[in-house]
Amino acid sequence: MPAIVIVGAQYGDEGKGKITDFLASKADVIVRYQGGSNAGHTVVVGGEEFRLHLIPSGILYPEKICIIGNGVVLDPPVLIEEINYLKSRNKSVENIRVSNRAHVIFPYHKMLDELEEKRRGNSKIGTTLRGIGPAYMDKAARAGVRVADLLDETGFPEILRSRLKDKNEVLKNVYGVVGPDYSSLLEEYKRYAEFLRPFVCDTSAAINRFLKEGKKVLFEGAQGSLLDVDHGTYPYVTSSHPTAGGACIGAGVGPTLIDAVIGVAKAYTSRVGDGPFPTELRGEIGNWIREKGQEYGTTTGRPRRVGWFDATMVRYAAQVSGFSSLAITRLDTLSGLPKVNICVAYRLRGRIIDEYPARIEELKECEPVYEELEGWSEDFSRLEEYDQLPDNAKAYLKRLSSAVGIPVSVVSIGRERAQTIGIQRLF
Ligand code: IMO
Ligand code: MG
Repeated sequence: MPAIVIVGAQYGDEGKGKITDFLASKADVIVRYQGGSNAGHTVVVGGEEFRLHLIPSGILYPEKICIIGNGVVLDPPVLIEEINYLKSRNKSVENIRVSNRAHVIFPYHKMLDELEEKRRGNSKIGTTLRGIGPAYMDKAARAGVRVADLLDETGFPEILRSRLKDKNEVLKNVYGVVGPDYSSLLEEYKRYAEFLRPFVCDTSAAINRFLKEGKKVLFEGAQGSLLDVDHGTYPYVTSSHPTAGGACIGAGVGPTLIDAVIGVAKAYTSRVGDGPFPTELRGEIGNWIREKGQEYGTTTGRPRRVGWFDATMVRYAAQVSGFSSLAITRLDTLSGLPKVNICVAYRLRGRIIDEYPARIEELKECEPVYEELEGWSEDFSRLEEYDQLPDNAKAYLKRLSSAVGIPVSVVSIGRERAQTIGIQRLF
C-alpha cells in the first residue's frame, strides 16, 4: 500500500501523531496536508517526549522525508522554532520540505483571531488563537501571501505593503487597535524567508515523483473530522479540511493514488474548545478519565472535555472519509472503570435518527443511546500482542468496531511508540 491517509475521526487530539510515528517506520515520506500550529502532536520514543505543531510526526526517524503541504497555513516563527527545537534534541531536519504554495500566517492573523473571538462573546468558538481562521479567510478571499511570495525578494515588499494596509484599516476602524508596523514586519519576514528558503519546493511535484518511484507515503491529518469546515459541527470547527479529501487538495495528489484511509479515534472522546458534544461526561467519571489520561491541550494547555466513545459520530466520520480501518488509541486510559459505555445511536425528539444532524441546535438536542459493557482493570504496560489484552477490553474493541462498521487495524495501549499493536498489515 503505497499511500495511506491518517485522519482524526473525532474532535482532534485522537493520537494521530502517535499513530503516524508508528506507521512512519515503514513509510518513506510523511506529509502534513492542512491546519497549522493549532495542532499539537505528542510522540514518545524511548521515554523522550516530543511535541510537534507543524512538522509531520515522521521527523523522529532521521531518513524520512517530511513535507509540509500546500494546504497548511504556515507560521514561520513557529516552524523555525520547531526546527531549532528538533536540532537541539539531535534530530535531523535536513529532510524537511515546505510547499511553495502554502499560505503564510502574519501577526495580524493572530490579532484578528483573538479580536474576533472576543467579539463573539458567549458564542465564541474557543479557537487556539493561532491565526488559523483569519489566514484561511485570506486564502479564500484571495488576499493571502504564499510561501512563494515570501521568497520573492522583489515582489514581497509590495505584496506585504498592500496586504498590511488593508488589514491595518480593519484593525483600526473595526477594532480600534493599531496593527503591525510595515518596516519592522518586512525585516522580520525577510529573515524568515532566508531561513526557510532551502526547505521550500513544489511539494506536489515531489510527492507525485515519490509515488511514481514506488515510495510509501503517509498523509498526516491534523484536527479531526468533526472539526472539518464542511463536515464538522459548524460553526464550531476549524477552517480547513481534516477529512481524507483534504489530503488530495492539501498535498496536490489525485484520489486515484490513495490506497487506504485510517481513521484514528480514542477509545473514548475528547473535545477542546466550544461546541456540541453529545456523549460528554460532566461528572466524576469525566474527571477521572481527564486526570488518568492527562487530557490537557498540547497547544493551549486547556483542560479537555471528555466523554464516552461515540460510534454514531465515528460512523459519520467514516462516511465522509471512507475509512478502510480504525486505529484506536488510549485503550489503557479506560482501564480501571467497572463499566464502559458506547453510544450506538442518537435519539432526537423520541426517534432514532439515521443521518448525522447538520444543525448544531439539533445535535445539542440529540440524546445518546448507550450500550453498557463490562470494564477491565488490568495493567497494560507490559502487553505486546492483541491476544494478551483482557477479554473485556477485546469485547469492547469488537463492539466499538461493529458499531462503527469498520475493522480495527491498530490499537494503542500506552504513550510509548512500542506500546502500539498492529493488527493488520497496512504497508
Ligand atoms: P490536533 O491536530 C483539538 C479546535 C479548537 C477550536 C476549533 C477551532 O492536535 O488534533 P482553530 O484555532 O483551529 O481556529 O480552532 O478547533 N482545534 C483543535 N482541537 N485538536 C486540534 O489539533 C485542534 N486544532 C483546533 O479548540 O475548538
Ligand atoms: Mg493535539
